[in-house]
Amino acid sequence: MTDRDALVEAARAAREHALAPYSHFRVGAAVRAKSGRIFSGCNIENASYGLTLCAERVAVFKALSEGERGFEAVAVVTDSDTLTPPCGACRQILWEFCGDAEVILANLSGQIEVHRMSGLLPKPFDSSNF
Ligand code: THU
Repeated sequence: MTDRDALVEAARAAREHALAPYSHFRVGAAVRAKSGRIFSGCNIENASYGLTLCAERVAVFKALSEGERGFEAVAVVTDSDTLTPPCGACRQILWEFCGDAEVILANLSGQIEVHRMSGLLPKPFDSSNF
């Protein structure tokens, strides 16, 4: 199994735990740290919709809170024919903590696209701006 396949598989498995009773849109994500460890997350919705957490941020924050620093790749898995890119807020968080990481988008049918954060978030705001 390639590194990419392993990351997509971790995101696919995390998606099974999604708490999405409002949107019914289940998302799984996984990040691979430079250490090689993989951390996964799923979306977690809330009745006050604005408190919903995206899968990507759950995965990154789990990793950071375990002491992990520096990430190489992120995978996002949904059951959608149009592959799901990270939302704007997640792009900002991913840029902050993962930099120009590889972003793998995949669905349950095995479709895959590989992007880079610099392509998904051109001209980012970050600590170099102040
Ligand atoms: N969602 C994610 O988990 N990641 C994204 O990047 C896009 C959106 C979730 C949030 C919400 O639970 C559902 O998908 C519909 O927006």
